[in-house]
Amino acid sequence: MSGPKGWELVCIGCGTPAETELPDSTCSTCRDLLEIRVTRKIDGRSLFGGDGPGIWRFKHALPFAPGVEPVSIGEGGTPLVRTDRFAARVGLHNLHAKNDGQNPTGSFKDRGMSVAVTRAKTLGAKALICASTGNTAASLAAYAAKAGIDAVVVVPRAGVASGKLGQAFAYGAKVFGVDGNFDQALATVFDLVRKDDRFYLMNSVNPFRIEGQKITAYEIYEQLARVPDYVVLPVGNAGNISAIWKGFKELRELGIIGSVPKMIGVQAEGAAPLAAAISSGEPFRPLAEPRTVASAIRIGNPVSWKKAFSAIGESGGRAAVVSDEEIMDAKETLAQEEGLLVEAASAAPFAALVKLKLPRGATVVCIATGNGLKDLSDHGGTHNIEPATNADSIASSVGGRR
Ligand code: F0G
Repeated sequence: MSGPKGWELVCIGCGTPAETELPDSTCSTCRDLLEIRVTRKIDGRSLFGGDGPGIWRFKHALPFAPGVEPVSIGEGGTPLVRTDRFAARVGLHNLHAKNDGQNPTGSFKDRGMSVAVTRAKTLGAKALICASTGNTAASLAAYAAKAGIDAVVVVPRAGVASGKLGQAFAYGAKVFGVDGNFDQALATVFDLVRKDDRFYLMNSVNPFRIEGQKITAYEIYEQLARVPDYVVLPVGNAGNISAIWKGFKELRELGIIGSVPKMIGVQAEGAAPLAAAISSGEPFRPLAEPRTVASAIRIGNPVSWKKAFSAIGESGGRAAVVSDEEIMDAKETLAQEEGLLVEAASAAPFAALVKLKLPRGATVVCIATGNGLKDLSDHGGTHNIEPATNADSIASSVGGRR
């Protein structure tokens, strides 16, 4: 659909413009994924001159008619923080964390959810549904609440961080647990949206999610006042890497930037079907039983794998794999040397830097995708002390700075 509204939906497989969105967000001709192209003329210079916080100051780059009222709770505009002590450990001089844990529900999902729920509201959707390893569920639940639409989330019965589940309940979503992993939860959701048109799909196959998440690239460019050499991020269902790459490509098409970063997608050793295909040169094959301590990216069949292949291939980037132990080491170092508490999945890109050996002078941005407060299951215990000797016990057990 092109024309006066200023954007169109196009299939990434057969290139056909889509007249309507099917309930499962796929192309009606070949069933591949859809992508939005903003076709209205955008004045590149004024794009960055807008005021207001978060993603909606870039509304000209989003697929809405001018008067649309956003469903917003303050998403985007998260800090870009220098992480110099971590940088020194991995031989870099210019390492930054995009701290997306500071979004309203504590993860990067909020940018895309704001845009997709805004879309759902304009369509008059009755109920919003997603499969999730936890963060999408929390985000959908919050934005659906804000929009006054019912939310249904489907999660693996085991292994979702309790903080994320607690958020989904607190925001009033209906939560269903499947006896299986994320891939099975997503298959259930696809099945349902194809059968019952009351449900509007909110996973990142929904191209409106990607539109919101692409703004991360706009923010990084604005905050750094240059294009980073590398963007490194965890990959699960592969929506975010596709979205951030789309954002940088758009900035290049608008003539705002001349170069683009190399995109590095990081997966956990036991859940790395994309990295396996890229490093072996074999066709992509899903993994039946993904395993990793990083539950957010415990995904064996990333639905946006084709888009992720393009992001990595077109940008000249690569895929990297890290072990659970490397992830947990990086998570601890970030907390204890940078004051940055991220969840395990979000530590994966930092863990990858240890072995990636990127050029010392490169400007590198790691996306810290989710807040560690949601999952504190692996913190240590207290040192218990007795009332009579409290002060002395502490004094004698603490060394260091005086
Ligand atoms: N980091 C975190 C903290 C996540 O929650 C996710 C995905 C990713 C990275 C990977 O992003 O899927 O776009 O490649 N979490 C989804 C969820 C699957 O349900 O919350 P992706």
